[in-house]
Amino acid sequence: MKKATKIAIAGSIAAATALFITACNGESPSADAAVKGASTSSTVYSWNGKKTIDGGVYYPIVGDKTGPYYVNKEAVEATAKVTYDGKKPVFHFANDAIKYNKGRPATKAELAAWDTDVTPTSPPPPGHGTAEEGEELYEQYCIMCHGDFGSGAAGEAGIYPALSKGNAYELQKTLVNQRLGEADDGPVRVFGSYWPEASTLWWYIKDGMPHPKTKQLTTNQVYSIVAYILNLNEFKIDGEEVDEEYVLNQEKFTHIKMPNRDGFVPNIRGMGALDDVRAFYHDPKQYGGIRLSDISTRCMQNCQKPTAKITYIKGPGISEFLPPMSVKRDLPPKKETSSFDPKKAYAENCAMCHGTGAAPEPGDKAAWKPIIAQGMDKVYHNAIKGTDAGMPAKGGSSLSDDQVKAVVDWIVNQSK
Ligand code: HEC
Ligand code: HEC
Repeated sequence: MKKATKIAIAGSIAAATALFITACNGESPSADAAVKGASTSSTVYSWNGKKTIDGGVYYPIVGDKTGPYYVNKEAVEATAKVTYDGKKPVFHFANDAIKYNKGRPATKAELAAWDTDVTPTSPPPPGHGTAEEGEELYEQYCIMCHGDFGSGAAGEAGIYPALSKGNAYELQKTLVNQRLGEADDGPVRVFGSYWPEASTLWWYIKDGMPHPKTKQLTTNQVYSIVAYILNLNEFKIDGEEVDEEYVLNQEKFTHIKMPNRDGFVPNIRGMGALDDVRAFYHDPKQYGGIRLSDISTRCMQNCQKPTAKITYIKGPGISEFLPPMSVKRDLPPKKETSSFDPKKAYAENCAMCHGTGAAPEPGDKAAWKPIIAQGMDKVYHNAIKGTDAGMPAKGGSSLSDDQVKAVVDWIVNQSK
């Protein structure tokens, strides 16, 4: 225990130094020296049998967890003289400027050592691995939490996420499922069916797994495990099945097309952007939808009401879980005034009074003459706002103002 504490302290001091070194613009001779040293790549720092070059970052396992990282001793010494009080480093800075200006510029090797994240636009480093190799590694490092074949829910609490539930392409279709009752099948959201980018998987594993002893897997090991997870999710790359022998490498990895890659973000830029957005929310493949409760009312709060009932699913490890709502997400319908049929709208919204003798009937010239005589602006106004004499606003319908006017025109035209 005592030893672990010491190591952690040493680590955090090194970490503090390492983090500060990016903040300084000032060129210092010692930093140049460090860059030159780095370009030879020959400076090897060894800690507990592990070797790392200048800028190499090493994360020791402390107390069964990944501890604060160590940086190359020489790189630090380029700025400060370091003496050791037991295992604890003591820094003697060359001058106060460096000390108080928060360090020195990072060396190239240090930047490279930290700049390793994998994103949709920056692929994993070169390497390779097969699903077969990945299965072995999975059983060694992951199965105790993520379960047999990535099924999830291993361990006492059963709280670990599944990494596969079967064929990703089929499961992606479940994302439209709305969960209205606890017994209903809900959307299956695992890596294969749900995630839009494969790069997240690669980096998640490389950087964050196996929990809590993270960052221990080599690049090839990560390729192997990723290949295995792709295999469990029944992936194809360029039409080729990722089977046990499939060799996943950097190039093939960049060819992965996630089934749900279009499931998140509509195109919101450019000429056709609005139509794209409208189409996006119209497509029932998109999920998580909510419908504006009343699109004609402007509001700042509680404007959106889910149209479907939400059920909270209770399960081990999950106290409250709000499933995505997969009802259709409609934007305001396209304005298609040309296709609006006033006769039909009349039949649906007005005829119950105007066609039953309860209100002036279309075609009853005598009845409409005094009404029309008020001037059409007044007639429109009365139709839209209603009257004290029994005409409800818009006839109680949800037609727009323009649509009501169109119906009034239709009535008036045959009543002159
Ligand atoms: C000690 C338990 C444990 C071990 C061992 C472990 N994981 Fe995890 N893993 C977790 C937990 C907990 C999460 C969820 C973390 C979160 O959501 O914040 C997770 C999340 C993940 C995710 C993201 C899943 C998702 O859909 O959000 C992936 C991928 C993953 N782990 C892969 C692996 C791989 C590969 C290994 C083996 C190299 C591994 N894990 C080992 C506990 C573990
Ligand atoms: C619930 C019954 C009811 C419905 C539904 C109804 N009306 Fe009326 N409407 C009346 C009555 C009663 C009057 C006569 C009293 C009046 O003119 O205010 C009237 C009068 C009118 C007038 C003449 C207003 C004026 O200036 O005097 C117009 C125009 C009109 N309705 C249009 C419509 C249209 C268009 C619809 C359908 C969108 C509609 N109404 C639906 C009951 C109804």
